[in-house]
Amino acid sequence: MPANIVVGSQWGDEGKGKIIDILASRAEVVVRSQGGNNAGHTVVNNGEVYKLHLIPSGILYPDTLCLIGAGVVLDPKDFISELDSLESRGISTKNLKIDPRAQIVMPWHIQLDGLSEKFRGNSDIGTTKRGIGPAYMDKYERCGIRMYDLCHPEVLAEKIKSTGTLKNKIITAVYNGDAYDLDKVTAEYTEYGKRLAPYMDDVSVLTYEADKAGKTIMFEGAQATLLDIDFGTYPYVTSSHPLSAGVCVGTGVGPKTITNVIGVAKAYTTRVGKGPFPTELNDEIGDKIRKVGGEFGTTTGRPRRTGWFDAVIVRHSVRVNGLDSLAINKLDTLSGLEKLKVCVAYKLPDGSVIENFPPTLEGLAGCEPVYEEFDGFNEDISNAKSFDELPQNCKTYIEKLEELCGCHISMVGIGPDRSQILER
Ligand code: GDP
Ligand code: IMO
Ligand code: MG
Repeated sequence: MPANIVVGSQWGDEGKGKIIDILASRAEVVVRSQGGNNAGHTVVNNGEVYKLHLIPSGILYPDTLCLIGAGVVLDPKDFISELDSLESRGISTKNLKIDPRAQIVMPWHIQLDGLSEKFRGNSDIGTTKRGIGPAYMDKYERCGIRMYDLCHPEVLAEKIKSTGTLKNKIITAVYNGDAYDLDKVTAEYTEYGKRLAPYMDDVSVLTYEADKAGKTIMFEGAQATLLDIDFGTYPYVTSSHPLSAGVCVGTGVGPKTITNVIGVAKAYTTRVGKGPFPTELNDEIGDKIRKVGGEFGTTTGRPRRTGWFDAVIVRHSVRVNGLDSLAINKLDTLSGLEKLKVCVAYKLPDGSVIENFPPTLEGLAGCEPVYEEFDGFNEDISNAKSFDELPQNCKTYIEKLEELCGCHISMVGIGPDRSQILER
């Protein structure tokens, strides 16, 4: 106690890493419970930029226990390079633990991600091509290789033989792709297992014990609500549950452990990858937001699509996550825009207006955003020290977002650094 969840409330990249890093200064444990290295979380401390993909954003604090739960899919090769890169910058990873149940991303998952995207042609999802979907497919097919297996050479060799043989058949016969030399894969992954074995521990037990001991726990969401496999814009989603509820199954803790759920959103909206985006701006305002906000993917470097703040999707997030409060990042990026628009509802082709996000793409088709317009601001707000100090138009904008989302805004981000946050 207390145990806080931080979740993405839009389509990802809301600045969850920054919020976790800030809140981790008051936490003893930080836990990742789903997703994999499709995530890219940026933490900036005194000009030093850290881009984290699998390692929890609490890692910059030397005494914070950083845990990777059973619900994560872990690419050991990428994970080791992340470990090495942190260690080379003087960041210790001794307090990092990985659950033996976590699924391992194998090389065929990465190849199959690319092959199936190619097969979809124009209907591709725009995945990060990190093998995430295929790794979760194997988990639910019950043929996945887990962290425990990786760290036990005989088990690993056996599993690579059975799963790898089938994958080779699929890759060559269905996709005309390249088969793997399974002995080579076994040798390579055995080495990864040796390196990672000291990090293996039961994250469910560690989290439970930390909670019983009264420690403060932060659960770090990856991806976001609108990328949830059920409650996102299916099929343009990821293959896990980035919702607050996903934390419990992905870590192995009961729902009553959770005391607080914080949603993170940007003061506008972005999306990387394909799929619907009602408030998207394909104009010079959208370009300006991308340029000023540096909206390029942390993982893939792809330009992010940009648009106005959509209160319909954030209200959806408030509901499906049970948000207690919201952190709104990147308000500083909107400086210099004469007018700020916020989508408050959608108008259907028959002229009726809806306030809840439709459950299907078919329901979303033809929806037009209904906007409210606010006066913008020109001041540089990145050095403000308190919310009260902000220009009146900024304060009005945030107060309006709070009212439209039906959720208290407890934090406002005015720059990428740890220090650039205003608490309300
Ligand atoms: P995450 O995936 O949710 O952790 O977010 P990313 O790190 O992928 O993307 C957020 C980007 O915005 C990063 O480059 C952050 O450094 C940056 N950022 C976060 N908060 C703010 C803010 O309040 N203002 C500005 N200008 N940048 C921010
Ligand atoms: P963070 O944690 C933004 C998107 C991809 C694609 C879809 C499916 O940094 O917010 P996947 O590789 O998961 O099968 O791709 O999901 N996506 C993200 N978009 N931020 C992320 O993570 C994302 N993780 C996946 O772009 O549209
Ligand atoms: Mg990101």
